[in-house]
Amino acid sequence: MADQSKRWILMTTAQTPTNIAVIKYWGKRDESLILPINDSISVTLDPDHLCTTTTVAVSPSFDRDRMWLNKKEISLSSDRYQRCLREIRSRANEVEDEKKGIKITKKDWENLHVHIDSYNNFPTAAGLASSAAGLACFVFALARLMNVKEDLGKLSAIARQGSGSACRSLYGGFVKWNMGKNDDGSDSIAVQLADEKHWDDLVIVIAVVSSQQKETSSTAGMRECVETSKLIQYRAKEVVPKQVADMEAAIKYHDFPSFARLACSDSNQFHALCLDTSPPIFYMNDTSHRIIGCIEKWNRAEGSPQVAYTFDAGPNAVLIARNRKVAALLLQRLLFHFPPHPDTDLDSYVTGDKSILQDAG
Ligand code: ADP
Ligand code: DP6
Ligand code: CO
Repeated sequence: MADQSKRWILMTTAQTPTNIAVIKYWGKRDESLILPINDSISVTLDPDHLCTTTTVAVSPSFDRDRMWLNKKEISLSSDRYQRCLREIRSRANEVEDEKKGIKITKKDWENLHVHIDSYNNFPTAAGLASSAAGLACFVFALARLMNVKEDLGKLSAIARQGSGSACRSLYGGFVKWNMGKNDDGSDSIAVQLADEKHWDDLVIVIAVVSSQQKETSSTAGMRECVETSKLIQYRAKEVVPKQVADMEAAIKYHDFPSFARLACSDSNQFHALCLDTSPPIFYMNDTSHRIIGCIEKWNRAEGSPQVAYTFDAGPNAVLIARNRKVAALLLQRLLFHFPPHPDTDLDSYVTGDKSILQDAG
């Protein structure tokens, strides 16, 4: 290190969008390496909207690794954070900042500590895949700070060990997470199926039904499901492989009717597994069910799907309109059937705990 005065600090900031699965990952075959029981496919959201921003800093004056999430200090002691930190640290390279007179050698990284400050501009732990954006950003920002030279595939395998869905957030557009066969997880990585320009007619609308933290985390929910559901292995082995192949074709050929039918039925299938868990898990609520009813009715009336819906492990709806015109109609319908609470600050979904949509009955 050129300057041992302990006064310097080096930092870098990264932003990573969330991704929403249209063929869901649900169930692990290895809990610690986070290896899934089926392939999954997702769409990465526009980085300007739902995303995590993470700043990582290193300084000889830091005496331990520390992390803040949404302005509150959280513990980094969980295996998931530790594993990601270890994997990135072990790949750190020399970093030089001539202007500041700083040189960090490969060896120095073993003894330097980091501070990590992360912020989600959307509800955390509410079923909008905060763990995906959060852990992908954690790994990406650290890799940048430490000058890690691995490709995105390798970084996705590291992010996967932080949260499974995170491996898909390192790419834009449509992304597939191959479950892989190897016991060490080396082939359980994400690949980009199509970039963000491939199907840019699609418009994604997020209806925040509740920004409250869910009662059952995705990790606990899928563990209980694997332990108790009689249907989950059947879905993973017999149903998902065809759904994945069909979804890949729908994306490749911009086939919206097939895309919508597959996304909606996969979402419903995943929530059926949650009901088949003992005790049952209810991620959706009455408002979520009413949104499904509205979209189903609309799609039937049009004779072919205009909007696809999908719900992750939470009550919030992710609605995918086939184009901008349909998206405008969708917004009108949502505001008519589910008007916001009169006292809702429309920005409150970012920070608040209020339910944005009120069921108009
Ligand atoms: P979600 O549906 O939002 O992904 P999960 O239950 O899968 O909910 O994960 C939520 C957990 O992910 C949080 O409790 C936290 O531990 C972690 N997480 C969320 N955002 C971040 C972030 N920006 N940085 C690090 N960890 C995060
Ligand atoms: C319903 O990736 O949050 O969003 O791997 O235990 O961290 P862990 O779970 P997580 O699970 C996501 C489940 C899902 C579907 C999906 O994103 O594919
Ligand atoms: Co998650």
